[in-house]
Amino acid sequence: MLAIDLSGKRALVAGVGDDKGFGFAIAKALGECGATVSIATWPPLLGMLKLALDKGRLDEALTLRDGTKLKFAAIYPFDADFDRLADVPAEIAQHRRYRELGDFTVAGLAAAVAAAGGVDIVVHSLANAPEVKNPLVQTSRAGYLAAVSTSAYSHVALVRELGPIMPRGGSFLTLSYLAAERVVGGYGGGMSSAKAALESDARVLAYEAGRAWGHRVNVISAGPYASRAARAIGPVEQIVEYARRASPLTTPITADEVAATAAFLSSPLASGITGTVVYVDKGFSTMGVHLPA
Ligand code: NAI
Repeated sequence: MLAIDLSGKRALVAGVGDDKGFGFAIAKALGECGATVSIATWPPLLGMLKLALDKGRLDEALTLRDGTKLKFAAIYPFDADFDRLADVPAEIAQHRRYRELGDFTVAGLAAAVAAAGGVDIVVHSLANAPEVKNPLVQTSRAGYLAAVSTSAYSHVALVRELGPIMPRGGSFLTLSYLAAERVVGGYGGGMSSAKAALESDARVLAYEAGRAWGHRVNVISAGPYASRAARAIGPVEQIVEYARRASPLTTPITADEVAATAAFLSSPLASGITGTVVYVDKGFSTMGVHLPA
């Protein structure tokens, strides 16, 4: 049997704040394949997530096929907006949700991961745009740059800081959306620009990280899914339904489908794949005109 075997691999999923998004499903799938899984969580969600874990509220969601429960090896505080502590404005550094956390920046995450023994698989599953509800043309310069900083540059920074501490043959994976290359009404605030940058960067990073360290860098372009982040954008159910009607496969995408592809791309089975965007969208991106039944 050809299996996705990640036993002995250490995985880090950045962007897990609850059990409702792609990051959580990917963490679980990597664990299902035998990886040791750590997560990195945005400080404003960290307390809530830890409480939910402590109280057992995520036990069902964490239960693997063999009946055992996935236990995260580490939960790192992580704010992808900052490369090092010197960059953090005082009001954030002193905020009650941040001040006790130590170094929650990209460099701090890399140092903590190195101290814990290193990592083989990194998944970047995070995005944010403060003005996401604004059309692009009404987006401020600060809002646009914030979207690109959090949602795209953070991936560059992760590859830069974690690449050198990964054994040769490591895997980076990030999550994109069709809005990178087609117009998606309502996906504003510079998020479409950020996803376009993320996909372009992945190709360049694949080249640079491949030549420097032998690592791979890939992208999953996922179909619409009602996560916490997607709900913040607006009526995601309408977009899910629109995609469902217009796709070759007419059931909405599930997080597990995205996660299974992520596990494959992160595995040695995908050792020949890098710099690629893989669509996990029920074929929606292939469509021009569909004829309603
Ligand atoms: P999610 O809400 O589960 O994940 C987004 C995560 O980003 C959250 O945990 C949030 O705390 C984190 N985050 C935001 N700002 C951060 C920061 N400054 N530092 C660290 N973490 C930060 O939602 P979802 O939808 O699973 O998003 C995961 C990825 O999938 C994102 O890149 C998203 O754009 C992408 N995606 C989502 C689609 C959807 O329809 N839900 C479709 C295609 C791609």
